Amino acid sequence: MSRRIAIFTDDPGWHGARLRAAFEAHGCSSEFVSLQQCGFEINGEGQSLRIPGFENLPDGVFVRGVPGGSLEQVVHYLDILHALKHLGVCVYNDARAIERSVDKGMTSFLLHDAGIPTPPTWVLGEQDPTQILMQEFSAGHELVVKPLFGSQGNGLLRIGDGDSLPEQGQYNGIYYLQRFISTGSQDAHDWRVFVINGRAVATMLRRGRGWISNVAQGARCHPAVLEKELRELAEAASDALEMNYAGVDILRDDKGRPYVIEVNSIPAWKGLQQVTHLDMTWMLVDDFLSCTHITPLTEVI
Ligand SMILES: Nc1ncnc2c1ncn2[C@@H]1O[C@H](COP(=O)(O)OP(=O)(O)O)[C@@H](O)[C@H]1O
Ligand SMILES: [Mg+2]
Repeated sequence: MSRRIAIFTDDPGWHGARLRAAFEAHGCSSEFVSLQQCGFEINGEGQSLRIPGFENLPDGVFVRGVPGGSLEQVVHYLDILHALKHLGVCVYNDARAIERSVDKGMTSFLLHDAGIPTPPTWVLGEQDPTQILMQEFSAGHELVVKPLFGSQGNGLLRIGDGDSLPEQGQYNGIYYLQRFISTGSQDAHDWRVFVINGRAVATMLRRGRGWISNVAQGARCHPAVLEKELRELAEAASDALEMNYAGVDILRDDKGRPYVIEVNSIPAWKGLQQVTHLDMTWMLVDDFLSCTHITPLTEVI
């Protein structure tokens, strides 16, 4: 019987098409499913999880997107993923990994706790940030203010001596402040390292137009050598956040010292695919199927 995979996404696009083709080549069928259409129906006996297109549970779940929304909505979407895992379905990456990595404060805490270099960071509720700003500015540093759950370089702000913080309300009541790390005199750049099953497999250099090097903000992707230092840091970061696969952002200061700044649990790989000869989708699907304990039909035949 053909194995059936759910790909959670509201925007299948390039990644969705690639995943479907790779699953098909491995003898598995797949459906795109929106987490917004899933729910619980707790009523009597039988399966209480409702996933459109799946009468029975899927054989595995590949998470390509979790929609935004109110706190209740997002918790509900993550609950669907938690419930699937609870019922024994492989969820790639699982809700716990997604929760930890979407929350930049938790990511910074876990990276630091695992001894991985990451810039000095403050996550503040109602504490007064004045002292931190004064200390950092008088030591000659600048700060980056980030939305706690931000992505794709959206909402980042760089502030220096003489600047004040925007209202905390703009950040949903939590300040995430991080020391700005200058990457030197050239255009700002960082490395995106892709890790699958604990092993760094590919990297690219992203060169931004300003100081932000996200592809979504116009950065260009360049081929790069996966140096030992980058590889080891990215693998340690992926382990610290317990990811099946991860996109790890690493920058180096003007003295060459590396810092892990982010670990993405739903990383895109379209940009990376342009600068590597490896078939990223194929590698992901291979690893996904081994996590789901599905023997690809191509191997059975
Ligand atoms: N502390 C920092 N110092 C210098 N540049 C930074 C710092 N934090 C982020 N950046 C730049 O902004 C980009 C986006 O930051 P990141 O924390 O990865 O947020 P996002 O989730 O939006 O990608 C990074 O890739 C890097 O180019
Ligand atoms: Mg990033």
